[in-house]
Amino acid sequence: MTDIGATPIGEKVMQQTGNTILITGGGSGIGQELARRFHDLGNTVIVAGRRIEALQETIAGRDGMHALTLDIDSAEGIADFAERLLAAHPAVNVLVNNAGIMRFEDASAGRDLADAEATVTTNLLGPIRLTNALVDHLKSQAGSAIINVTSGLAFVPLLTTPTYNATKAAIHSYTVALREVLKGRVEVIELAPPAVQTGLTPGQESRPGYQPLGEFADEVMALLALEPTPAEVMVPRVAFLRRAEVEDRFDDTLVQLNAFATAARNG
Ligand SMILES: NC(=O)c1ccc[n+]([C@@H]2O[C@H](COP(=O)([O-])OP(=O)(O)OC[C@H]3O[C@@H](n4cnc5c(N)ncnc54)[C@H](OP(=O)(O)O)[C@@H]3O)[C@@H](O)[C@H]2O)c1
Repeated sequence: MTDIGATPIGEKVMQQTGNTILITGGGSGIGQELARRFHDLGNTVIVAGRRIEALQETIAGRDGMHALTLDIDSAEGIADFAERLLAAHPAVNVLVNNAGIMRFEDASAGRDLADAEATVTTNLLGPIRLTNALVDHLKSQAGSAIINVTSGLAFVPLLTTPTYNATKAAIHSYTVALREVLKGRVEVIELAPPAVQTGLTPGQESRPGYQPLGEFADEVMALLALEPTPAEVMVPRVAFLRRAEVEDRFDDTLVQLNAFATAARNG
């Protein structure tokens, strides 16, 4: 059984160096920060996303970093991307499903569901499709791994982002299943960030109370260096959400989380 958050329980070790790592959403925020740190450790890193200028900025001045455009909302686009990726980088052995969007929605009344549908397409169908396009290749590679970026909100929902929470909870579940069916062939890791200062939502980059991006990335890299690799990479700040149910404080945590988020957004 998967322990929650603290103890490394993976059976294998993800190598720290010498991998060829694809990171979606590598042109900004968490993806950009992790991409550079993986590269600093001596890995080849490919960043993917829609904005080529953002990707170019991530890789600027770094040999062994590469940029490829990807729109993860498009099934055909993903198929085409996988072909381009494997032609240019046949040694790719680590997939980091990081690209995502977060939209605020008021689910208390009937509404236009465009944001909900976009969220499901990007955050849920995107990683499922991209993993599907690459899983057979990953199985053929040594030391292969899939890292799925979920969220603390997979475990306790923010009331203003109902579809976002639901997609992250779904990817948590998908990751658990994938880990079991790929056991012994591909290491499957979940990375669930807490609230981190990035441009994911307007104003979030400098929001007080959110974890500074550099500090978050330091903690993630330290957890990924543990042996064996944790099945769930959970920095200390996210344990409050990840462990809410098991510590029998879910209802209180739901109230506290939403009060914190409202206060943080209102400054
Ligand atoms: N920051 C937080 O507080 C937090 C907390 C929990 C979980 N997370 C998760 O962490 C991940 C990274 O988010 P972030 O905070 O770093 O925000 P971010 O800076 O907005 O990064 C999101 C990235 O996803 C890419 N993306 C969005 N739609 C895409 C599409 N259709 N195709 C390809 N790429 C797409 C964006 O690049 P393009 O626009 O160039 O395509 C962008 O680089 C997300 O999955 C997010 O849900 C973040």
